[in-house]
Amino acid sequence: MQKIRRFMTPGLIVLLAGCEPAPPPPPPSPFTTTLALKQVMEWVIDPAADVIWDSVKSVITEKGTQEIAPQTDADWNKVRDAAATLIEAGNVLMIDDRARDDKAWMAAARRLSEAAGQALKAAQTKNTATLFDEGGNIYKACSACHAQYAQHLQGPPAEPAPVVK
Ligand code: HEC
Repeated sequence: MQKIRRFMTPGLIVLLAGCEPAPPPPPPSPFTTTLALKQVMEWVIDPAADVIWDSVKSVITEKGTQEIAPQTDADWNKVRDAAATLIEAGNVLMIDDRARDDKAWMAAARRLSEAAGQALKAAQTKNTATLFDEGGNIYKACSACHAQYAQHLQGPPAEPAPVVK
């Protein structure tokens, strides 16, 4: 500062003295966020979750109950890939303006990644029972975040109980 001042007129020095140097602008974000959060949900997260939820289930028809579970390596790989997508989706929810805050939102996103991580292990060890349970935990991770940040997804509010007189 000393060096610069020597070359300035007194008037300029007075002007500059009151100004703290402005903080540098933040660097531009390297992330692409052209997809709205709703699109990430509908086009990335929901289809991946469906692969996991549809992979283990009981289908009840007139002929009886049919147990669905991954059979071939290709079936298991499909589940593995969907679980991997959901692990990374947790990260995708944390970036830039997708994150609604830096605490509870982050924890909710991490919960999704962690449940998906367990589903990934179940796919790698071809454990149908664990895969079913982790599908449930993934569902709970979705619902917990929606309960806090997307209350409109919880369905219409319950009818008020009739008043008995
Ligand atoms: C970290 C929070 C968070 C997690 C985890 C999360 N969601 Fe969402 N989800 C949201 C929010 C917020 C919205 C509302 C977005 C909007 O309307 O702009 C939303 C919207 C949706 C929608 C769009 C529904 C509609 O009609 O608007 C679907 C479908 C969806 N989520 C599915 C899922 C599934 C499936 C999972 C779990 C595998 C999941 N989400 C996990 C926060 C989350």
